[in-house]
Amino acid sequence: MRLKNISTNNMNIKLSNEIDKQRIPEHIAIIMDGNGRWATKKGLPRSFGHNKGVSVLKEIIKVSKNLGCKVLTVYAFSTENWSRPSEEVDFLLNLFEKVLKKEIDEIHKELIKIKFIGDLSPFPKTLKSILNSSEALTQNNKNFTLNVCVNYGGRQEIVKVAKEIALKSFSGEIKPSEVDEELFNSELLTQGIKDPELLIRTSGEKRISNFLLWQLAYSEIYISEVFWPDFDEFEFLKAIIDYQSRNRRFGGIE
Ligand code: IPE
Ligand code: IPE
Ligand code: MG
Repeated sequence: MRLKNISTNNMNIKLSNEIDKQRIPEHIAIIMDGNGRWATKKGLPRSFGHNKGVSVLKEIIKVSKNLGCKVLTVYAFSTENWSRPSEEVDFLLNLFEKVLKKEIDEIHKELIKIKFIGDLSPFPKTLKSILNSSEALTQNNKNFTLNVCVNYGGRQEIVKVAKEIALKSFSGEIKPSEVDEELFNSELLTQGIKDPELLIRTSGEKRISNFLLWQLAYSEIYISEVFWPDFDEFEFLKAIIDYQSRNRRFGGIE
């Protein structure tokens, strides 16, 4: 075990040396996928995968913060995830509550600002209250921002913005001719947060699954074949090295 740790550390140090510290993405978004399949493959209930996924997230927050990344946005529960069996949905909601209760002091001590992005209204009262109090406690922290997308759907977010703009226009607060990208951005749930430069999805699936549809317009996409519970510093560094090899043209030419 000790030998394995030493060799893992050496591999991570080797990869770290390949990274250009001046070009670390400021904002990384992650679709943490594959918890259930990881557990099923081991003959375990899916919930074991979700539990293991939490410890991976803790590691990835630490690594990205140390690398100098400023914002991490993770997909924890989509608007479509309500369609899972109620036992799994209940397990996940309980897990969010349990983990936050346990970790919020540490998160605050690390000067991390935590934000929940999504429609929190259908959540149980106790969960809503801990989500809100965690945001309030950490709102002035400046070291690093962790956005957790819960009951989040990109299409629902875009429809919400359209509705807000329609209302403002109807009431005369704005003119239809004033509707532009800047105004649209200012009504998004992510307002004030710059778009992610890099999107990582684990477990090999090559889709966006209703995540940050507007914000990912020009993000680089990296698919890791590894299930989220097996994702680690090594896989994360690989994603950043791959990102740094890309040529971001934004529609232009060299
Ligand atoms: C991601 O893992 C976590 C959530 C969606 C909550 P999954 O639960 O989707 O695991 P797979 O993709 O079924 O293996
Ligand atoms: C996306 O994963 C949502 C989260 C990671 C929270 P899913 O497992 O729900 O997505 P699909 O079903 O593979 O598209
Ligand atoms: Mg999945």
